[in-house]
Parts: sequence; structure tokens; C-alpha cells
Amino acid sequence: MTTNELRQKFLDFFKEKGHAIIPSASVVPENDPTVLFTTAGMHPLVPYLLGQPHPMGKRLADAQKCVRTDDIDEVGDNRHLTFFEMLGNWSLGDYFKRETITWSFEFLTDKNWLGIDPEKLFVTVFEGDEDAPQDEESIGIWQGLFATYGIVADAGDRIRAYPKKENWWGPAGLTGPCGSDTEIFYDTGKPHDKTFGETCHQNCDCGRFGEIWNNVFMEYDKQADGSFKPLAQKNVDTGMGLERIVAVMQNVETVYEIDAFAPVLDKIAGLSGKTYAGNERAFRIIADHVRAATFIIGDERGVAPSNVGQGYIVRRLLRRAIREGRRLGITEPFTHLVAEVYAGLYGEHYRELEENLSKIVDEMKKEEEKFGKTLEKGMKELEKMLSVGAHGYAPITGEQAFLLFSSYGFPLELTEEILREKGQSVDRDVFASEFKKH
Ligand code: ALA
Repeated sequence: MTTNELRQKFLDFFKEKGHAIIPSASVVPENDPTVLFTTAGMHPLVPYLLGQPHPMGKRLADAQKCVRTDDIDEVGDNRHLTFFEMLGNWSLGDYFKRETITWSFEFLTDKNWLGIDPEKLFVTVFEGDEDAPQDEESIGIWQGLFATYGIVADAGDRIRAYPKKENWWGPAGLTGPCGSDTEIFYDTGKPHDKTFGETCHQNCDCGRFGEIWNNVFMEYDKQADGSFKPLAQKNVDTGMGLERIVAVMQNVETVYEIDAFAPVLDKIAGLSGKTYAGNERAFRIIADHVRAATFIIGDERGVAPSNVGQGYIVRRLLRRAIREGRRLGITEPFTHLVAEVYAGLYGEHYRELEENLSKIVDEMKKEEEKFGKTLEKGMKELEKMLSVGAHGYAPITGEQAFLLFSSYGFPLELTEEILREKGQSVDRDVFASEFKKH
């Protein structure tokens, strides 16, 4: 099952259950200065979760374009992505726990849909605290569903309860709609690595369990004073990371090995003459960052690389990708060629990528031509600075980092990243005082 097929299956399933399919909202939020990008499917729907009637009704489903940049430096490992698609179904004061949990289970396990072995599914619920009670109702619903397959789902094992940190979602900002949630995990069967504790459980970090779907029961409105007021209506907000569920269905180890990345990894291999195996980190950074930049520049509210706000994030994404490209030996501008592959892969569902392709290509070429020269000169200078030490790799001072920035346009983040790889860091205070003096 391909990424495009799985997305469509999800939408078809919820259409059958009486949901209106809504298009993804822009990845650049409208009228919301608190975030740079849409980070979850519920984000554009906040007014409706608060009670405003939605023009398409009370049951909605979609695939939402999301960007999360908090972990940008982690990209390159086997699971972090900055851009991803979130599949979601919503009840705006319509159905609640029983229906949504039952449908999640049906979509995942029924042979007509994903047909995942229910033995592989483990779930979590909210354990309760002073703000809301333990979610006994969800525990009961889950036990009933597993029982249809003859599986005895014990609380404390297949169903585990956790505090707010794990099983509460929202609000998206400081105040607003939120509630407890129930999360569904897939058991990869990997052996438990005891560095994370004696017993393995759903939220253990050893890699055995992967979270695939979150069902949030949005029934509270968090107030500025920290208290939780019941919402006028009880809502459901769910989110399933498309890349993760595709990885499960395609039985691959990491999200980067799904079909939606394969032609891109091939393209990078073709351009660099290197293989993915052995160069995973560089290939993944390029694949992830160029995909995010393609979707942000190609969005209906598209943003080009610049020095402020969202534009700066696009710039950082492209620059990191370009640097990895040069490290793999790609000497000519290439990010736009990767973007073209993505437009081909995603253009049928996200028409805006096809429509805005020439803009995407132009912006990427411009950025790469400009930055390519900066990178070349700055790298030479940095290498010189590093090699002056008696044993090579002299520490770079804050003054030198500033010189690289002011005279060569070499971004501080990049100097820091290169130094981090050598176990060094930049003295940010010195950098800042040089900046001030300048
Ligand atoms: N809003 C929920 C999440 O992002 C579904 O996990």
C-alpha cells in the first residue's frame, strides 16, 4: 500500500462513516501569531472546537500538512521529520469516545482496511488527576474491542494509564480546547533494551513500541489561570502520522524507507554517486528538509526564504540540505531537482505543488546559488581557523565565529553545527558582544 493509497483509504473510511472530507489547511497559519506553522490537524479547527459551526458539518476528516521545527537538529536519525502529514477525524459536538475508538480499531484491524494484526496493538489512556478522573470508559471500550478477537486486554499491560504528560493533549497555545487522550501503539517486536528501564511499556524509549494514532477527547477549555472549564460541546480530535503508519504497513524500519522517499533517495544517489547505506544521515536531512521547503514555498500561502519568521526557517532548511549535498559531493545546485521529484510524488493530492512548481524551483535555485558561494568561502575559512592549532582542530573563538558571519555571511547555526560534530561549541556570549560592537 503506497502513501497515496493509504491517505485515500483513510479519507474513504471516514467518508463512509458520514464525515465531510475537508482539504488540508495552509501550513502557514492564518490569523495565528503564536505559531510559525500548523503543527497539528486541530490547529486550523480551533474556532470550531470552541463552538463556531463549521460550514461542512459536525463530522470532518482530512490529511493536514504539518511542520514541526522544534527538533530540526534531530533530523537525520531514524524517526524525526520536520514536515509530515497528519490524518485526522473530528467530531464537533457530535460523537465521542465509543465511536471514535471503535472506528480507529476498525480502520487499523479490519481486513477491508489496513488489516493489522490486533495482537500488535497496545493502547494508553489517561490515569486521572485533580483536573479529570481516570478514563475508565475508554478502558472498557478497548477491552470490548480486543475481546472481539479473543484477546484479553489487561489494564496495566495492553492498556496502560499514564499522567497528563503522556495522555493529555492541548491546548495548542496557552489557553483553549484540550482533553485527555487515548493513544494507539504498534509493537514492532524488537527486543527490549533495558537502558530505558527494567520493564518495557508503551511509552518506553527503547524503540519496541511506536505511537501511531492519538484520539483526543476535547471537552475542556483551559483558562488563563490554569483551570479547566468544560467546553460547551464535547469534541473528538484525532491524529495519525501518515509516514509512521505507512512504515508499519510497508514493514520498514524507518519512516525514510517508505515509498514516498524512495525516488528521492534514488535521486540523491544519482546526483552524488553515493549510496544511502553508509550516508543515511545526509540523505535523510536532504530528503526531509527539501520536502518541508517544497511544501512551505509551494503552499497556497507560500513563504520564500528570507531572514525573518517562517522565511528564516525555509532558509535554514535549505541551507542545511545544501551543506549535506556538498558533503556528499554534489557541486551544482540540486535542491530544486529534488523538489521536482516531490511535486511528482505529491502533486496529485496537493495540487498547489504542481501549480507553484516554477516558483519553488526559482526560489530554491536562487537560494542555492547565493548560499553555495557563501558556503564554499566560509568553509575554507573555517577549515583554516580549525587547522591553525598545533594538533589540528583548534577551538574556534566567539570572535572567529562572528568574523565568519560578518565577513563571509556564514550563519552561526552552521558554524555551531560543524563544531558540534567535532565536539566543540561557540561561545555565544562573545559572539553576541562582537555583534553588538559591530
Ligand atoms: N492533536 C492531536 C495530536 O497532534 C491529535 O496528537
